[in-house]
Formats: sequence, structure tokens, C-alpha cells
Amino acid sequence: MAKYIVEQSGPLKGEVQISGAKNAVLPLMAAALLSDEACIIDDVPHLRDVSLMKEILSSLGSKIEEKGENSISICTEDIKTTELEQELVSKMRASILVMGPLLARKGRARIPLPGGCAIGARPIELHLKGFEILGAVVTKGDDYVEAVSGGQGLIGDQIYLDFPSVGATENIMMAAVLAEGTTYIENAAEEPEIVDLANFLNKMGAKIKGAGTDTIRIEGVKQLHGAKHTVIPDRIEAGTFMLAAAITRGAVHLCNVEPDHVKPIIAKLRECGVRIDVGDEDITIRGDLGPQMATDIKTLPYPGFPTDIQSPFMSYLTTVEGSSTVIETVFENRFMHVAQLGKMGASIETAGNKANIKGNSKLRGCNVIATDLRAGAALVLAGLVAEGKTEISEIYHIERGYEKFTEKFAGLGATITKVDD
Ligand code: EPZ
Repeated sequence: MAKYIVEQSGPLKGEVQISGAKNAVLPLMAAALLSDEACIIDDVPHLRDVSLMKEILSSLGSKIEEKGENSISICTEDIKTTELEQELVSKMRASILVMGPLLARKGRARIPLPGGCAIGARPIELHLKGFEILGAVVTKGDDYVEAVSGGQGLIGDQIYLDFPSVGATENIMMAAVLAEGTTYIENAAEEPEIVDLANFLNKMGAKIKGAGTDTIRIEGVKQLHGAKHTVIPDRIEAGTFMLAAAITRGAVHLCNVEPDHVKPIIAKLRECGVRIDVGDEDITIRGDLGPQMATDIKTLPYPGFPTDIQSPFMSYLTTVEGSSTVIETVFENRFMHVAQLGKMGASIETAGNKANIKGNSKLRGCNVIATDLRAGAALVLAGLVAEGKTEISEIYHIERGYEKFTEKFAGLGATITKVDD
């Protein structure tokens, strides 16, 4: 299995280009199923999860063409099946995002139950509840779930989400765009990726209002036409590189960033004493200007502090003056990086969803395991400042969600190489 070898690298310096957002492009690709015309998506990052979504759409009958370095066309004139193969779903939970579009366009969707993952059970009852309220009959077997709408198709209605689930909001929004009448999603997720999806759907002819707030109104239309759209920048990749600059006490300029999408990360890093200059579409991080102090983090749905930045931020907090606390409220098992950071010499105690991190740790390089995508990124950050070499295995997790990860770090002066066993 491939590994990353990360060496103590000194302050990172230079400029890094942020890619299109993984968590935006996946629902955008699924949404292309809603039209029989071609959709063009630009700024598509080259990621394992994007390749898997292409496989999934092709298995459903989509014709996918590369239109340039980071541009694809998706055309689904006919959906040839409304069932997904087990093998594809088991590789990527986000495959569930095709349920809404299939239900809307063909009146049926049947997928193998997506399992949990390292960070939590990842249930889907909020997605299914939304489909049922729109009039679908949902059947759950031991290893599959099926939603079927009667001959009349889906009927718009009012849906309250017990938790502002990102995926459920996206799936229900895509199911509702072709429904009869109007749908309201209340207590909806407000993430930028929801807004990006609504903007794309509206370009396709949908009538969606309120995306980015806790109430989204979708007026059903008869059909959607093709459209062209550029993916928003990846706020989690941006946060990861902001932290790479801070942890190495470097000076890094990030290009292709939406500063509004990373407000919580800017605020918390400023609390720690990091200087951050914000442009229209770029950010400069100065971690080289003075001492950096502890802070406290609590992850929350957007616009709160993003759970996906919790583990990389924890790596950073092991290096500042004083002790910090991190509370994870979104996922039930998102502290697996703690044991790996402990192997490197970090002093972190956890109790339930709360972690106490001692600062001024002298991290030492050693062999560690990436347990999930963001935990893997956290270990790379720690490896940049740990004494000696850090060998990170299971890096396929990391390569699911970060485009040209080692190249971008090397471009900032990091010593990081990928080796294949
Ligand atoms: C999306 O996952 C992201 N993935 C995650 O990013 C991100 O961490 C998460 O949103 C929260 O921001 C993609 O967009 C592909 P949720 P999603 O539904 O949609 C519970 C990364 O590292 N829940 O908002 O699955 C769930 O168990 C990944 O890029 C239910 O209880 O997140 C979790 O505790 C990790 N029932 C919480 O809500 C449901 O029906 C948040 O889940 C659905 C969710």
C-alpha cells in the first residue's frame, strides 16, 4: 500500500492554488441526472471520489466526457437503470446523492445501504423521511433501500429536518425540483455547498429560494435543461493549507478562496495570534510574526466551526502556548487522529466528545495510520513539524479528497514524498 513520508520541513512559504470543492462537485454531478441535456461542470478536482461518481453516473446511463483539464460534460438522455451496484456504493457513501435525482426523474431509486465509516454510523433516515413526505414509498431491506413514487410522481410538501444534515438537504432538494407543487425544507443545512447546488439547479431551470438559510423553498417545475457551472473553491482544502502555514510558522498565499466560506477558521486562527490578510478571492497567512496561543474549538453545522477542520486544527493546537479544548458535536467518533498524534508525542486527553490538548508538544516522527480523510491531513501537518520522519499509511483516505496534495505541499517547501510498497 502507498505511504507518505513527511519530514520536518521548516516554515512553508509561497503560493498555493485551491481546487474546486469535493463536497460541492459530488452533489453537482448527481444533479446532472435531473436533465436529459448535457451539463458542463468546470473546476472539477481530480479526486478518487470524483472518479467513483463518474463510474456511478455511467452505470446509470450517463455519457461523461472530459472537456478540458478540470472540466467535464455529463449527459443522461436516458436513465437505463434506477439501481446502484453494491461494489460502487461500498466505496463511497456520497453515492446516496443519486437517490433524489433518480426518484425525481424516474420515480424509483434502489441502492445498497451505504454503511457507516470510521467517523460515525452515518444513518440516512432524514433523507428517507424527506422522500416519504414527498409521497414516495420507502422500503428498507437488510442491505438495500428503495424509494418508489406512485404514478402521480412526487408531491411538494413541508419537511422539517431534525438535524441540518448536508446530504439530506441536498438529496431532498434534488427530489423536490420536479415535484408537483412547492416544497419547504426547514432546519435545512446552510453550507456553501448547498448554495452552490441550488445555484446550479436554478441555472438548469429549477425554482429554488433560500439556499444558505435554514428554510429552502423549492417550486416544482416540469423539467430541467442542461447548464454550465463552475464549482466553488474547496473551503476545507483552504483551511488545511491555512493550518499548514500556521503550524510551520510560515507565510503562505492561498489563491482561489471564498473568504466568507472560511470565516470560522480565520476567526480562530486570529485568536491564536496568526496574522491573516483577506482579499476578494485570496488569503495570506502569516504564521511567522510572533507567539501563538491556545484557543477553544466547538464544531457545529455551518456557519459554525467546520467538523472537517477539527482534526487538522488539533494538530496545530499541539504546537501553541497553553492548553486548548476541542468539542466535536457533529460526528460521534471523530477523534481517531488523537491516538496517532499521541504516538508522535502529543499530549491529548479525551472524554466523550471533548478533547484537551496540551500545547508546546515536541512531536517526533514515527509510523502512523490515516484513519479517515481529514485525520490523514492532520497527520501530514503534524509530520511537517515533528522531528525526523513520519510515515503515514492508508493514504488512500487522503487522496479521496485532496487534489495534488503532495505536489502542493512540496511547492511550499515541504519535504513530503509518496512511496508505493
Ligand atoms: C457532508 O457529509 C460532507 N460530505 C462531510 O464531509 C461533512 O463532514 C458533513 O457533510 C458535515 O459538514 C460530503 O458532502 C460528501 P451530514 P454528510 O448528513 O452529508 C447525522 C469530508 O471529510 N445524520 O450533515 O454525510 C450524521 O450521522 C466529509 O469531506 C443523521 O443522523 O453529513 C452526522 O452525525 C466527512 N441522519 C450529522 O448528521 C441522517 O439522515 C452530519 O451529517 C443524516 C445525517
